[in-house]
Amino acid sequence: MSSNKQKTVLVAGGAGYIGTHTTVELIEAGYEVVIADNLSNADLSAVRGVEQIVGRSVPFVEVDCCDTEALRSRVFERYAFDSVIHFAAYKAVGESVAEPLKYFRNNLDSLLSVLSLMQEFDVHNLVFSSSATVYGQPEQLPATELTPRQRANSPYGLTKQMSEDIIQDTVAAIPFLRAIALRYFNPIGAHPSALIGELPKGVPNNLVPFITQTAAGVRKELAVFGDDYDTPDGSCLRDYIDVVDLARAHVVAVGRMVAATAEKREDRERYEIFNIGTGTPVSVLELVHRFEEVNGVSVPHRLAERRPGDVEKIWAATDKANNELGWRAERNLGDTLRAAWAWEKRVRGL
Ligand code: WQD
Repeated sequence: MSSNKQKTVLVAGGAGYIGTHTTVELIEAGYEVVIADNLSNADLSAVRGVEQIVGRSVPFVEVDCCDTEALRSRVFERYAFDSVIHFAAYKAVGESVAEPLKYFRNNLDSLLSVLSLMQEFDVHNLVFSSSATVYGQPEQLPATELTPRQRANSPYGLTKQMSEDIIQDTVAAIPFLRAIALRYFNPIGAHPSALIGELPKGVPNNLVPFITQTAAGVRKELAVFGDDYDTPDGSCLRDYIDVVDLARAHVVAVGRMVAATAEKREDRERYEIFNIGTGTPVSVLELVHRFEEVNGVSVPHRLAERRPGDVEKIWAATDKANNELGWRAERNLGDTLRAAWAWEKRVRGL
């Protein structure tokens, strides 16, 4: 049993891209952390990277969060948590279209299993990794937390919407529970140490890993999907958020709920949603050129057909996160793109 019940956080899916960065920030903020991960899309070397950064070992349990019995006996019965951050989910949009049941089963089962164990073990606070994908293409920009969600255009997006709804109703029914859903915009970059970062298996779906792999010569050229959108340069607009800034948002969210629970804050909603982005739209072409400029490398690219399912433009209204959560994005895009390249070079031994 951990003796530090008040400050122990379970990071479910903590060996992944955002989970590792969040674990580092939690530990640096003074929290005890236990990572649970089935390593289905992560590698133990990522946990070693975290340990190298923080200078100590981090408890790690290899377990599938969908397996409620294993999660109970190997995690919840062995440690005492007051908070859970739930990252454990599949995240490839295209794969979710091809294999929807795999996504519904995994992403919903793991959440249900975590929620039921939180109820059973009296664990109070949950941070959920949601996504700007729940907005679809908003009619008005920037997207605020009150912007109506539109039916997701992939099973992956649908699992994020359904998970938010499941959490909302569960919190309503369990008086001791609090939850914060963080709607991430486009997380990019890597830890400044270059000891952890994004490590996609196979051909990357996301823009920045494709850029870094192209710059490293692993991919021949980047296809820029669409040059005829109704945007200043014809390519899509997104809100790229540094992964370390994003990780810090989780730490702030945990702190907010721990304090609200301790102070018995009846006035505060027990389920809250925050956008996590910079508030600044950046086009695909701008991002490619900025990457080339700050890193002094070239990224061969060509204009290509639109990618089915892409929204034209989306960026975040950040007022709620800034004012109520007390969080804001701090790292500038140049530093973020430098960190992304430093990580890729380290992975490739360049
Ligand atoms: C960004 C922009 C592409 C690759 C998705 C999910 C979201 C989150 C992040 C999970 C788009 C363009 C991309 C390429 C390109 N989920 N692009 N060439 O689609 O905004 O968000 O990933 O992890 O929930 O929906 O991110 O990085 O795939 O694309 O031109 O080779 O880059 O068309 O405009 P997206 P992305």
